[in-house]
Amino acid sequence: MSPRTIGMSEDLYDYLLKVSLREPQVLERLRKETAEMSGAAMQISPEQGQFMQLLAELTGARSYLEVGTFTGYSSLAVALAMPAEGELVCCDVSEDYTAMARRYWEEAGVTERIDLRIAPALDTLAALEAEKRQFDLMFIDADKEAYADYFEAGLKLVRSGGLIMVDNVLWGGSVIDSGKQDGDTKAIRAFNLALQADERVSLSLVPIGDGLTLARVR
Ligand SMILES: C[S@@+](CC[C@H](N)C(=O)[O-])C[C@H]1O[C@@H](n2cnc3c(N)ncnc32)[C@H](O)[C@@H]1O
Repeated sequence: MSPRTIGMSEDLYDYLLKVSLREPQVLERLRKETAEMSGAAMQISPEQGQFMQLLAELTGARSYLEVGTFTGYSSLAVALAMPAEGELVCCDVSEDYTAMARRYWEEAGVTERIDLRIAPALDTLAALEAEKRQFDLMFIDADKEAYADYFEAGLKLVRSGGLIMVDNVLWGGSVIDSGKQDGDTKAIRAFNLALQADERVSLSLVPIGDGLTLARVR
């Protein structure tokens, strides 16, 4: 026994899913259809989706801003955890990927609540700021080199007391591999370091999925 975060073997991971996952059928089908595509690894894991649902409930989120929607798993998970009057704004650049998201949103009856904006996310975030929009909950899960910019925009768009979730902050372990010096890895390292010193937020890096940082706006 050790107080450090436990390592996750395949068997232990299977056990975790077996005793805690409550994935609705519609999300399971979306996950399985995405698994057939190239780029499937971009999708969040089901236990992370469920964790984000719990965070949406805990924060009482009625508005959600997502940067990086892909085939829709994270947005649909959060939509299903929000009250019926909840509003979601989803940013992506891909009509192709999000066509699948639209299909599953329709099937789950949440399409009316979701404003999908196809454009570079920094443009959409600037437009939302100009519209004076405010959100309770935000998820950053797109191009890694822009994480710091998405986070800065998020600090203006998420209300005080709201929560910003940032995905892939452990980047498959590359963050500690000195042989990995590509732009994405360097950007995530720099982002993580800067956030540790950022007094504008309360912080926790949760080792779920590929690492999920939670930053509560002070
Ligand atoms: C890791 S995936 C998102 C996964 C998604 N959250 C899920 O649960 O399945 C990243 C997405 O970001 C999108 N993306 C990449 N660069 C972008 C940009 N500059 N602006 C908006 N979206 C971008 C990609 O098209 C892709 O769909």
